[in-house]
Amino acid sequence: MVAIDDLFAQAKAAQARAYAPYSKFRVGAAVACPSGAVFAGCNVENAAYPVGSCAEAGAIAAMVLAGERRIAAVMVMGDGDALVTPCGGCRQRIREFAAPDTPIHVAGPEGPRRTFTLDQLLPVSFGPDHLGAVGG
Ligand code: THU
Repeated sequence: MVAIDDLFAQAKAAQARAYAPYSKFRVGAAVACPSGAVFAGCNVENAAYPVGSCAEAGAIAAMVLAGERRIAAVMVMGDGDALVTPCGGCRQRIREFAAPDTPIHVAGPEGPRRTFTLDQLLPVSFGPDHLGAVGG
């Protein structure tokens, strides 16, 4: 089990690497696997705006590249007063590798603020099971 503080530290370090010259909104994310491995990502924007990618997408891509397929916990952090909850697309990306009760921690620069389950953020969701897939 990865400590929340460790997950936060990795997300915060990733936020410092964010490439967000257009929105100026820097996001860091970290996913913890049941093995204890942690993978981080940052948002990477693009002059062709829709091509930019979210921090969560980067973290999940790194996780899959490393051979991991299960997410045990997620940390997303960004600046400002509003909770930086994962966007709709990233909720679905997390859904692919997580369980309904998987915790998604939302943090500001000072530390974790709130925790949601995946099912709270993406109820009645569509997933691999609908296609008869078990995570191959
Ligand atoms: N962003 C993320 O990286 N993750 C989210 O879940 C919300 C939004 C990024 C995308 C874009 O680079 C910037 O935040 C502003 O939308």
